[in-house]
This record gives sequence, C-alpha cells and structure tokens, in this order.
Amino acid sequence: MKQKVIGLFGGSGFVGQSLAFFLAKQGYAIRVFTRRRKDTRHLWMNTSIEIIEIDLENQKHLAEALSGCSSIVNLIGILNEKKDNGKEFIHAHVRTLENILSACAAARISNFVQISALNADVNGNSFYLKSKGLAEDLLKNTFNNSSGLPTAFPNNITIIKPSVIFGDKDVFTNKFASLLKYMPLFFPLAKGDVKFQPVYVGDLTALIFKCIEKPDQGVSTIHVGGPEIYTLKEILSLIADITGQKTTVIPLSNFLSCLQANFLEYVPGKPFSRDNLRSLSKDSICPSSATTTGERIEIQSTSMKNILPTYLSSE
Ligand SMILES: NC(=O)c1ccc[n+]([C@@H]2O[C@H](COP(=O)([O-])OP(=O)(O)OC[C@H]3O[C@@H](n4cnc5c(N)ncnc54)[C@H](OP(=O)(O)O)[C@@H]3O)[C@@H](O)[C@H]2O)c1
Repeated sequence: MKQKVIGLFGGSGFVGQSLAFFLAKQGYAIRVFTRRRKDTRHLWMNTSIEIIEIDLENQKHLAEALSGCSSIVNLIGILNEKKDNGKEFIHAHVRTLENILSACAAARISNFVQISALNADVNGNSFYLKSKGLAEDLLKNTFNNSSGLPTAFPNNITIIKPSVIFGDKDVFTNKFASLLKYMPLFFPLAKGDVKFQPVYVGDLTALIFKCIEKPDQGVSTIHVGGPEIYTLKEILSLIADITGQKTTVIPLSNFLSCLQANFLEYVPGKPFSRDNLRSLSKDSICPSSATTTGERIEIQSTSMKNILPTYLSSE
C-alpha cells in the first residue's frame, strides 16, 4: 500500500516535533514546511521526516510542496509580537492560513486539521485570541463557500482548541521553572487565580492522529483539556515543589500586573507581555457543555502531576 503523506506547518515547534515523531512511528511520511531549514536540525535524523523550506507567500511553490499530501496540520502560532497592535498576529495566524488554504485547494487536499486555542474568538480579549478566532472563522467560511477563497478543498476540517499544553520541551512549565531559579524567595505573579486545564502533548498528538485517520465529515470543533483544573498559582506551586524551591508566590493586583507586563515586554525573550495579560483575563478551561452543533469536548487522561517530575525534577 502507498505510504500516506502528512504535511505539517509549524512542525518544527514544540507540539509539531512531537507530532512529527509520533506520526513517523505510525508509518506515515511527514513533510515539515518551515521558513528556516536550519531551525529544524532536531528533526533531521528521522528518515520519515522530510524538511521543506518554504516561502509562505509563494502560492505556486506552496501548492507544489503540498501536492501528494493526504492531510495538512497547521500548527503555526505566535504568542507575542514586536508592537502591541495585532498586526503580526493577523499575519501569522490569518494571512498565512489564507495562503495555505488556497494551496490546499490547488493541491486538492481533502483533510485539514487546525490547532487553535481555547477562548480563541473574534471577540476575544487579546490580539492572540482574536486572530486565532479569525482563523477559525476563515476555515468555517472556506467550507461554507463564503470566504472568497477557492473552495471544495479541504472538505473535512477539524479545529482543535486546547488549553495550555505541557511536555518536556514546552515553554510554559520550563519558563516558570527557570524564572523560579532567578526568584528563589518571592515570585510576583499576575493573574494567579486564572484557571487552566493543562493538556499533555502526548495526548494531543494522539488526538491529532485520530483526526487524520478518521476525520469527521465537514467542519468540527474539539475542545481539549486535561483531567485536572489548576489555577496559575497552583501550577507555579507544583513546579516549585518538584524543583525543590521554597518560593513564596505574591499575587499582584491588576495595576501591578499591568506594570509587570509593560516592563517584561521589553526584557529580552519577552517572558510576559500586555497581550499575554489580556489572554489571561478568562479561564482557559473547556466549556461545561458543547455549545454549538458539531462541537465536542475531549478530556484526555494524563495528569500534570505525573509528567512534570519526569522532566523538571532536580533529583
Ligand atoms: N503551547 C501551548 O501551550 C499552546 C496552547 C494552545 C494552543 N497552542 C497552539 O498550538 C500550536 C503549536 O504551538 P507550539 O507551542 O508548538 O508553538 P511553537 O513551538 O512556537 O511553534 C510554532 C511554529 O510556528 C511557526 N511560526 C512561528 N511564527 C510564524 C510566522 N510568523 N509565520 C509562519 N510560521 C510561523 C514556526 O515554524 P517555522 O519556524 O519552522 O516556520 C514554529 O515552529 C500553535 O498554533 C499555538 O497557538 C499552543
């Protein structure tokens, strides 16, 4: 039987690499489309993974590169932009998706999986959530023939909306673990009460695999959360316990949180930004019931308490 080919946009990132290795193990051939080949060294050793450097603005090249793929997974995402005006978010999340979808139509790709986020909505609280919501609407409109893009393909679209994702190469828990080293006594925390339903990257990749193998017909949306709900403060305390830090968490008022976000936005590596703060104004947990036709909720099984010690523990 001919080996199926899966194309990944954003396949060089944290979730993307985990997915690429998982799919390779299942016997697929993987094409990782990247803006910079040299940033994908961690994937080079796997012979089932082909790296294709691509100009996302070049429609002809994009359609050629996608030709022969049976499914496309779009994992492109940014959490921060240089200026606080939403333009980079729109470019990364919406403009690139328009180009990818046009190329999918040209290459007659039938199955498309979009990695979005819980709370992504055109009326969301941050530029990140708004642009991710616009991307979801673009996909739904493409399917319904009202986006202005060439349609008919893709004709099976799955939008996956996870809460925060954790795993040994994540930014979220690893960043907190290193910040705790710099602040061993007191840790000033913005929005400590906001709730998350953390998802293990291995569970998410298994779910994406299911959507590739057995896609729902038409457009479907899946909310994804792990088995437990934690406040941000509880996650930080868990990381402190595992890494053996005796840090006291100091909750910040709204005013001090804004000051902190303004300041950290200019620190190299941007550990926190005003847009991140806006995203934190709503809990990132699955809705208690599916609200719209076609939406479902997938609760995965791996607990953060079991996995974090495997990569954060100092022992
Ligand atoms: N991590 C989480 O906790 C979390 C939670 C909810 C949703 N998500 C969503 O899940 C997806 C994967 O997340 P991740 O943590 O794996 O992200 P990541 O590690 O930052 O990887 C994202 C990838 O997107 C590509 N990319 C970045 N900026 C781009 C731009 N301006 N134009 C085109 N491509 C760009 C990069 O690929 P190249 O450099 O190779 O081109 C990069 O590898 C994202 O869509 C994210 O929004 C993540």
